[in-house]
Amino acid sequence: MKGLILSGGKGTRLYPLTFTSAKQLIPLSNKPVLFRVIEAIRDAGIEDIGIVIGDTGAEIKKAVGSGGRWGVKITYISQDAPLGLAHAVKISKDFLGDDRFVMFLGDNVIQGGISGLIAEFAGSAFNSQIVLTRVKEPQHYGVAELGPDGRIVRLVEKPKDPPGNLALVGIYMFDSNIFEAVDSIAPSWRGELEITDAIQWLVEKNYDVHPYVHRGWWIDTGKPHDMLEANSYVLEEMTPHIDGYVDRTSEVDARVTIEKGVEVFNSVIRGPAIIGRDTRIVNAYIGPFTSINHDCLVENAEISRSIVLENSQIRNVGRRIEDSLIGRNVVIHRSPIRPKSFKFTLGDNSVVGLLGSD
Ligand code: DAU
Repeated sequence: MKGLILSGGKGTRLYPLTFTSAKQLIPLSNKPVLFRVIEAIRDAGIEDIGIVIGDTGAEIKKAVGSGGRWGVKITYISQDAPLGLAHAVKISKDFLGDDRFVMFLGDNVIQGGISGLIAEFAGSAFNSQIVLTRVKEPQHYGVAELGPDGRIVRLVEKPKDPPGNLALVGIYMFDSNIFEAVDSIAPSWRGELEITDAIQWLVEKNYDVHPYVHRGWWIDTGKPHDMLEANSYVLEEMTPHIDGYVDRTSEVDARVTIEKGVEVFNSVIRGPAIIGRDTRIVNAYIGPFTSINHDCLVENAEISRSIVLENSQIRNVGRRIEDSLIGRNVVIHRSPIRPKSFKFTLGDNSVVGLLGSD
């Protein structure tokens, strides 16, 4: 079997972070979502992996390379424009050949990996296997309607009036019949060739499409809130270790990972949390569900349930920062210079939440 990861697209819902970088490279517990996807496929025994890339391709290639780090072989497939998930399959035909394959959306994270799913598909005669899970707002996803016998009746992409709450998770397994399907469908109302329509085509032509209902957590990291939630789940499942320096006046929970070169002075860190290499935490409080990336500084400040990317600084902030997604090279600090006012240098589409009563 081969693997196909979709890592094109624009990531508009994660602006401004994704103005300058690919959404699949935003880290959860300091490891990019895309790296987690590669590891899940590798752990399922698949070594030949194609990655579909778009505008952010150069950055993805730089971060991932040829795959040697994971013991896999990566082939890059360029997509001129994000014309849909089925379009991405179409342009990957030369890479995939006649092999059965798993397609994994590069912004999805799933509990428990995919080894069981791949083994089930590999040992079956299914033409396709899709993964479904119950969600609260099915109108934002592809939705499946199952009959009383558990078989698929119908699949619809982002329906206004969903026929149930079983959403399509971004992990799909196919044999080569999918190529006829993607060639037979027309673009949807949003101008994309939808994989959901291609699978519906397989169902209508009586191909054997097997629905697997996933019961653990799963997150499509499309929006900032989803990133924070996924970060919490991933941190909770980490095996912690301490490789940096923690002074005697600091208090660090058992569920905290402290990487090499980190220095923690007179601070409290509550887990689950991770502090990336060469970061300094001074007179600070780092609350649960927080990932601070490498080469950051948190000094005289408090932060919890947040993600801070590399090389950022948070200094002398009087109020606790919570539920925040902070990009690379960001500085948040209190300035002694008058007038006593907020001074912002924010990128397009930034969001700043201030206290209502102050
Ligand atoms: O996450 C699950 C959902 O993913 C499913 O429930 C939907 O049925 C499916 O259509 C898809 O919906 P999204 O609207 O969330 O897909 P998105 O546009 O975010 O793209 C998913 C990934 O695929 C993302 O990493 C970008 C990449 N992509 C997307 C398009 C449209 C490509 O590589 N090429 C593309 O043309």
